[in-house]
Amino acid sequence: MDIAKKTVQRLIWWMIFSLSLTPAVILLFNAISQNLGADPAKEIVLELGTWAINFLWCSLAVTPVRKLFGWRAPLKYRRMLGLYCYFYATLHLLAFATFMIGWDLKILLQELTERPYAVVGFIALLLLTPLAITSTKSMQRRLKKNWLSLHKLVYIIAVLVLLHIVWQVRSDFSEALWYGLLLFWLLAYRYYKKAPSAKGRATKPNDNVVGLKIQR
Ligand code: HEM
Repeated sequence: MDIAKKTVQRLIWWMIFSLSLTPAVILLFNAISQNLGADPAKEIVLELGTWAINFLWCSLAVTPVRKLFGWRAPLKYRRMLGLYCYFYATLHLLAFATFMIGWDLKILLQELTERPYAVVGFIALLLLTPLAITSTKSMQRRLKKNWLSLHKLVYIIAVLVLLHIVWQVRSDFSEALWYGLLLFWLLAYRYYKKAPSAKGRATKPNDNVVGLKIQR
């Protein structure tokens, strides 16, 4: 690969990296300037949760996008999208524990084991952890076929996260519905629409796995 192409790829990588970090920076800025509305604690938790699910859904969209438009470039950034999901989901839990529970471990444990929406959210985060840890190229090489099986957990994680938001709905189902429809489409498209070009490539592990894997 020539130097110009490599430089452009590097530049795009940094652009996506910085853009993905922007919601956290804006949130921090708004928190410092006390610009988070009447219930800042809830706003922080909701905002971080929303970005976690957005990155998860984006990482799941990489393969359908490749099949639909033939774009292979997003494959290079899938690992980053998955790791950003993990980053925002972890901050989401930390914000919940800090601002809503005040690190009362007894209440926290009760919430994480007794409230259905928190239980499924917690399981989703726990399942995301091995994916984040094994997202490197060296781990992919080391785990071989097991890596593919492990990373299929992302489908279960996505369903758990959807349940997490559905279980919280009190009156307005629209957000959960949109995320649900999008997930249904992403998964259905993945399985039933076999693009002819995908056939030959399916042997490459990176093309078949959603979530936290990415080629740099
Ligand atoms: C680790 C365990 C988790 C806990 C304790 C937790 C807790 C919460 C809480 C307290 C809320 C706000 C409920 C409300 O008062 O309206 C929330 C909302 C949300 N969480 Fe989680 N969560 C967890 C994991 C996750 C994960 C792993 C994701 C995504 C990857 C996620 C995504 C969301 C989303 C999208 C919302 C709704 C945001 C909105 O309505 O705008 N959560 N969560």
